[in-house]
Amino acid sequence: SAIHLKDYTVPAFLIDKTELTFDLDESTTVVTSRLHMRRNPAFGKSTAPLVLDGGEDVKLIGVAMDDYPLPPEEYRVSEDKLIITATADEFVLTCETLIEPQNNTKLEGLYRSSSMFCTQCEAEGFRHITFYLDRPDVMSVFTTTIIADEARYPVMLSNGNQVERGKNDEGKTVVVWHDPFPKPAYLFALVAGDLAVKNDVFTTQSQREITLQIFTESHNIDKVDYAMEALKRSMRWDEEVYGREYDLDIFMIVAVDDFNMGAMENKGLNIFNSSCLLASPETTTDDNYLRVEAIVAHEYFHNWSGNRVTCRDWFQLSLKEGFTVFRDQTFSADMHSATVKRVEDVSFLKTAQFAEDAGPMAHPVRPASFIEISNFYTLTVYEKGSEIVRMIHTLLGEEKFRAGSDLYFERHDGQAVTCDDFVAAMEDASGVDLTQFKRWYSQAGTPIVTATDHFDAETGSYQLTLKQETPATPGQPTKLPLHIPVRVGLLDKEGKALEATVEGVTAQDHVLHLTESEQTVVFSGVTTQPVPSLLRDFSAPVKLRYEYSSEDLLLLMSTDNDGFNRWSAAQQLAVNELNTLIDQAIKGETLAVDSQLVDGFKTLLNDDSLDPAMVALVLALPSQAYLSELANPIYPAAIKQARQYLKQQLATALSAEFERTYQAHSMSSGYQPSAEQIAHRSLKNIALSYWVEAGDEKAQQAVRAQYQSADNMTDQFAALSIAVNGQLDSASELLAAFYEQWQNEPLVVNKWLMLSAAQEQDTALETVKSLMEHPAFDLKNPNKVRSVLGGFGQSVSGFHKADGSGYRFLADQIIVLNKRNPQIASRLCTPLTRWKKLQPELSVQMKAELERILAEDLSKDVYEVITKSLA
Ligand code: ARG
Ligand code: ZN
Repeated sequence: SAIHLKDYTVPAFLIDKTELTFDLDESTTVVTSRLHMRRNPAFGKSTAPLVLDGGEDVKLIGVAMDDYPLPPEEYRVSEDKLIITATADEFVLTCETLIEPQNNTKLEGLYRSSSMFCTQCEAEGFRHITFYLDRPDVMSVFTTTIIADEARYPVMLSNGNQVERGKNDEGKTVVVWHDPFPKPAYLFALVAGDLAVKNDVFTTQSQREITLQIFTESHNIDKVDYAMEALKRSMRWDEEVYGREYDLDIFMIVAVDDFNMGAMENKGLNIFNSSCLLASPETTTDDNYLRVEAIVAHEYFHNWSGNRVTCRDWFQLSLKEGFTVFRDQTFSADMHSATVKRVEDVSFLKTAQFAEDAGPMAHPVRPASFIEISNFYTLTVYEKGSEIVRMIHTLLGEEKFRAGSDLYFERHDGQAVTCDDFVAAMEDASGVDLTQFKRWYSQAGTPIVTATDHFDAETGSYQLTLKQETPATPGQPTKLPLHIPVRVGLLDKEGKALEATVEGVTAQDHVLHLTESEQTVVFSGVTTQPVPSLLRDFSAPVKLRYEYSSEDLLLLMSTDNDGFNRWSAAQQLAVNELNTLIDQAIKGETLAVDSQLVDGFKTLLNDDSLDPAMVALVLALPSQAYLSELANPIYPAAIKQARQYLKQQLATALSAEFERTYQAHSMSSGYQPSAEQIAHRSLKNIALSYWVEAGDEKAQQAVRAQYQSADNMTDQFAALSIAVNGQLDSASELLAAFYEQWQNEPLVVNKWLMLSAAQEQDTALETVKSLMEHPAFDLKNPNKVRSVLGGFGQSVSGFHKADGSGYRFLADQIIVLNKRNPQIASRLCTPLTRWKKLQPELSVQMKAELERILAEDLSKDVYEVITKSLA
């Protein structure tokens, strides 16, 4: 059953101090808690019973009140609660509980990953460790004692500072950690294992020395240098840009192989999926390097935006996630190229978040209800949430935004607050009224902004009319107009920026405030018919519609001084051509398009003044996933055919340019994950993928040569991917060689699994089935499941098989994982949630699989996604 935001009430009890003791053991772990509790004055006078959360997997051995054991009639244990009928106003509650981390396959609470113990408590994992008030507005000071066998668990970690280490009577090691900062249970963490450590120090702006430690299993400790440097860059950046200094004396990160998500910001003890932390040139691609840096930064930034100031309830999740994603995006932009970063982030948003907004799971950035909170760690909460913060930044400007952020942290330090509190701080510090703007938090769906214009040469006035409309989403049939910042510039026919006056302000670039359903803005002093550059830097997460001619798009693509819109124009041009081709493919016609892109690409490839990374981004045609988001209904095979055709046409027409570009950007200096080198490699490798497409024998040799001589994973894996995706004769031989070479590096094997599973071939379904039988596969490891099944979802010929067998296969896996690991099972449902948009023959097949899953005894996670999809 669903939980609603409108039903929020403050907790009836508070826990001032939490003392935990873990007696770790491979069979049964004993957890003893001493909770220093009192009735919450804010709740009002009450004799309400004490209701603690605790999962079925927590076995209660004994409970005592102020050290007097409670008789059985004074408490009861239900499915997921411990209810104590009568309590004093202030008391110490002691619970002794048993758990079995070794049997925890859900990877929530305390579990085992290889030979270590570790935890994941966000959002509601702590209740699988012991009985507690497992809600973020109950903040407590934690002291954690860990007892374990020294030989197997020499490293024993928890939040805060280690205050004691010794031996008990049985000769076991006892370690005590104390975290002075009050925190909700979701930020609790514990790790124990035989781990290697890399040490470093960071000196803060106020000259405090912070010990930095990264822990991994010993065979991985040589792959943490990059993460350590990224951590120090993050710490410095947060001081410089947000004035935020680290608070404890020690900051630790631990890498674990089995982890449901990317990483977790536990106070002073971040835990990472090893795929988001480990990096070395030989095993890690450029993309993965950037991801490591971004996630290290993200989790570090949570220390303020998340930990010092946390969420009142889980409906406010975007309070910390939207803000922290915005912070990590800006950090990465500052470390590398801002335009490249913006294009990547927006591409991702428009592909995946827009699809979520258009599907059955659409929800506002601050959802109004949920059945299972784990299902709401979504692109909407994270990425659209970040866009909301970015729009506030645009509306306030850099300085006032910083003032708002300072006020927010000062006003709410140590509190659990709401998105409204965040906006109020921004308003109070800036004087900007965000009343209407706040609708962005509560209204789901992607707004469509349609622009039309009229130029009057006589008066030199240019009228731009903007209309907005947000389509209905589940539970929200009608929508109100939003406050949408639309950044606009005007270009003349040569592409020169035009100055114009809007409401008394003369500039080349204006932020318009679209607040009505329809609004007309007049630009005066316009000397010639302009081409508008609309929604610069993607100033709002909307779908923009404007009737651009191909000439306009070519002009914007080559001259706009907004780098983002240059990419955007190129992308639109490609989308237009692809849509023509897709229509032809659906109708079974011969594909033919008079491509404007040939000239556009030629200019790009011959212009050495351009940022190679931007050229590479333009050359990457709109993805299958993005074109699917735009389509309704979706014809997957037609989209695939259109993309292949266009790539082929471009490759043939520009084969010489691609060859030259490939050669020009191949360099042999030592590998660095620097923006500059990454840019050259990205252009080189995409050029190679086109050159090969032209059918040139020399190109095929270049692929093989690059594969064999590469001294870094980026180039090696790019060559392999080109061979596989281009279906070169060498593909199967190289795939086999790659596995042979890297079989002992799990993170590299994951890449191999994904590439293998994503292959476009008639036997794709057989391939994925055999991959799941492969010794490298492990159903317990979320990364491997994601690689194989995520990869498979990308294979049009495998997943979208006409007889529905691809969907059936995925549904089978969801049914298997439903009980074992509900979070992962629920994520795997995503491709099936798109069934309504699919072409009719496929749609019915997909729907049948959703119904088949529904007939099972489902976890809350899977139940919510499936029922909402079928509603
Ligand atoms: N707070 C983490 C992050 O974004 C995400 C953890 C979510 N985990 C989960 N199982 N829902 O950094
Ligand atoms: Zn986060």
